[in-house]
Amino acid sequence: MQITLDTQPFAALEADALVTYIFDESDPMQGRVAELDRLTGGLLSRLVKSGEIAGKSLETTLVHAPQGTKAARLLVVGAGKREQYNAITLRKVAGVALRYLKSRGAHKVVFLVREGAANENVAQAITEAALIADFETDKYKTDKKNDRFIETFTIAGYSDTEKAAGEKGIVTGRIVGDAQNFARDLVNEPSNKLTPKILAQKAEAMAKEAGLAVDILDEKRITDLKMGALLSVAQGSVEPPRMIVLTYAPANNKPGAPVIGLVGKAVTFDTGGISIKPADGMEKMKYDMAGGATMIGVMKALAALKPNVKVICVVPATENMPGGKAQKPGDIQTAMSGKTIEVLNTDAEGRLILADGVHYAKQLGATHLVDAATLTGAIVVALANVNVGVFGSDRSWTDKLLASAKAAGEKMWELPMDDEYREFIKGSFADIQNIGSGKGGGSITGAWFIREFAGDTPWIHLDIAGTAWNDDAKPWLAKGPTGVSLRTLVNLVASL
Ligand code: BES
Ligand code: ZN
Ligand code: ZN
Repeated sequence: MQITLDTQPFAALEADALVTYIFDESDPMQGRVAELDRLTGGLLSRLVKSGEIAGKSLETTLVHAPQGTKAARLLVVGAGKREQYNAITLRKVAGVALRYLKSRGAHKVVFLVREGAANENVAQAITEAALIADFETDKYKTDKKNDRFIETFTIAGYSDTEKAAGEKGIVTGRIVGDAQNFARDLVNEPSNKLTPKILAQKAEAMAKEAGLAVDILDEKRITDLKMGALLSVAQGSVEPPRMIVLTYAPANNKPGAPVIGLVGKAVTFDTGGISIKPADGMEKMKYDMAGGATMIGVMKALAALKPNVKVICVVPATENMPGGKAQKPGDIQTAMSGKTIEVLNTDAEGRLILADGVHYAKQLGATHLVDAATLTGAIVVALANVNVGVFGSDRSWTDKLLASAKAAGEKMWELPMDDEYREFIKGSFADIQNIGSGKGGGSITGAWFIREFAGDTPWIHLDIAGTAWNDDAKPWLAKGPTGVSLRTLVNLVASL
C-alpha cells in the first residue's frame, strides 16, 4: 500500500472512494463537511436530515457516484461527539475506513482530514492506523483474498504550506506502522514455525538489514553466564533457549547519557510446564512471546528513526514445556544475579526468564529499564482487554512512559506497587518465590518479582497479557496480534 499526500483540492482527486468523518453535534455541516455538502448538491445535509448519518462513533455511510467530486464513492465515518474526539478516535476512523473499503473492492482511497487538522501528528497517526488496519493474518491460508487490497491511500486536506509537515508525518508513520506489523507477524507465527532459535534468526536478519548490532547467546553462553532462571524454564523442552541482544547506538553517543534497556518476554509456547495449563484455549499461548516481538519491533523502528539515545534490547526466548527434564514445583533455582528462587508454580515462567533478562540488560549498561510481557491472566481481570497494565519503580520514568502512551494513542493504566505486595513473594526456602502467598494481586506480585532484579535502576513493567491479542476482529483491526506498546516505546525513546 502506497501512502502519499496530495495538496490538490479534494474535489479534483480521482479515487474509488473519498473518505471523511463527521461529528455527532447539533450542526454537523461544518468546515470541510459543509464544503463537501455544497459540492455534492446538499447530499450530506439530506443524509443527516433523514437520520441516515448521525455522526455516531464509527458509523459508516457509503454513497455511490457523489456529484461534484471525481470519486466513485463517498464514505462518511462517524467520529462521535466532538468533545470526546482525540487521537484514538482519528486512528479508529482511518482504520475503519480502510477495512470497510478494502472488503468492498476499493483500491484507490482518498482520506480527507477535517479543517484545522492538517499537521504532522495527524498525518503520522493516519498513516500508522492505515498500515495497522491493512494487516491480515492470512499467511497460512492457501485461498488468500488477493483481489482485496488497497493500492494507494492518499491523505488530502493539506495546503502547500502544510505539505512538508504532513509528509514528515507519513515518513515516521510508515516506519512505526511497518515495525508494528513486523512484530505482529512474529506473534502470529505458531510455535512450530517459531522456536526460540527461529525467533533469534529472524531478529538477527532484521538487525543486519537495519544496521543494528546483534548478539545471539546460545545455550552454551547462557550456561556460562549462569542464567539459571532462564535455563530452569528451558530445561523442560528439547528446543534450546536463546538470549537475543540487539543494540542501537546513536552516532554522537555522549558518555554519561542514559542507556535504555528494553527487555521482552519471548516464551514461544507456554504449556505451563509441570503446572500444566488446561487444554481449552491453550493454543493461544503461541502469543506468549509478544513482549519480545514488541521489543524487537521497537528496535527496527529506532534503527530507521535514529534517535539520540542508546538502546539495548534483551529478549530471553524459550519454550515452557513439561518434558522429562522439566523443573518441578518446589525446585530452587539460582538466577544470574545470584538470588535464589523457589519455583512454586512452573507456569509463572515469564518472571523467571525476565529476571535474567533484566539483570543482563543492567550488566550491559542499561540505566533505565522497560520490560514488556504477557505476564499474568490476572491483568485481564483487572483491566480486561482494554488497557495495558503499567508498573513502575520511579515516578518520573513512569510519567514519561504514560505521556508517551497518550501521544501514541495506546491505552495504559498504572497499578500500585506498595511494599506490602513485596511481602507476598518472600521465600520460605529461598530468597524469593515465583508466585504470591497472599490472595489476589497476581499482576502486582508478578511485577514485584521482576523489580527485585531491576533493583535501584528505574524500571517499568508492561503487562500486555490482556492487550497483545485481539480475540474478535474489530472494524479497524484484524483478529490476532495487536503489536500493542510498540508505539509508546518508540515515542518514549524518541522523547528522551
Ligand atoms: N503466559 C501466562 C500469562 C497469560 C495468561 C498470558 C493468559 C496471556 C493470557 C503466564 O506465563 C502465566 O501462566 N501466568 C500465570 C501466573 C500464575 C501461575 C501466578 C497466570 O496468570 O495464571
Ligand atoms: Zn505461564
Ligand atoms: Zn507465560
